[in-house]
Amino acid sequence: MNSWNANLYDDKQHFVSNFGKELIELLNPQAGEKILDLGCGTGDLANDIFQFGSEIVGVDSSQEMIQQARSKYPFISFLIQDGETFITHDKYDAVFSNAAIHWMKQTSKVVENISHAIKPGGRFVAEFGGKYNVETIIKGISSVLYGEFGIDASSRNPWYFPSVGEYTTVLEEHGFKVRYAQYYDRPTLLVDQEKGLNHWLDSFATDFFVGFNEEQQLHLYRLINEKIKPQLFHQGSWVADYKRIRIIAEK
Ligand code: BEZ
Repeated sequence: MNSWNANLYDDKQHFVSNFGKELIELLNPQAGEKILDLGCGTGDLANDIFQFGSEIVGVDSSQEMIQQARSKYPFISFLIQDGETFITHDKYDAVFSNAAIHWMKQTSKVVENISHAIKPGGRFVAEFGGKYNVETIIKGISSVLYGEFGIDASSRNPWYFPSVGEYTTVLEEHGFKVRYAQYYDRPTLLVDQEKGLNHWLDSFATDFFVGFNEEQQLHLYRLINEKIKPQLFHQGSWVADYKRIRIIAEK
């Protein structure tokens, strides 16, 4: 499980909630609607949805993220819940999820839980990493971990990046009508020039480096930087090779 640093996330990875604002347009929240934000992180998008007059509940599996969300937005209800195991007795008009589904590998279970949380006729609106997302970074990590320590990085990979076909099939198996599905490239600028990739690894890729001491980790980071710089470092900044899926599905 990724070890989240909520301050680093808010400070260096603000693009996550900035991009999420476009997803709120797809959600089109209405005043008085009950909406669940699945994988709410530090709560910025839940707060944006709250501003529409919706009744929003944010859930996230990270205690640190939820603590930060509660302190930033004390007027919103935030709960520590995991997408794979969450149970809600409340029914929602919509479940919204930005940049979180790719951390939940038990797809069928997660979709079942989402379906359970939505009223008949309600909607699931989500964006997450799609097939080949951050492929260059994954290849760089894999090659360096294998080359230096003989470790198969796939055994540590915490992410699930499906194709549109795979994901919409699971939604349909659970009775959803898929109204909209989009797969697109979203090259993503990582802040802090030269240090951008290291901040990204510190924020999102900690599972790959479990068990290494600080010196070993710095050595691995340096080799990964060298390996993928030709592909992802342009004009003084790192640009990650994000590939996204956007979904609107109706129950
Ligand atoms: C993403 O938003 O696509 C993503 C974030 C962190 C790690 C991997 C992917």
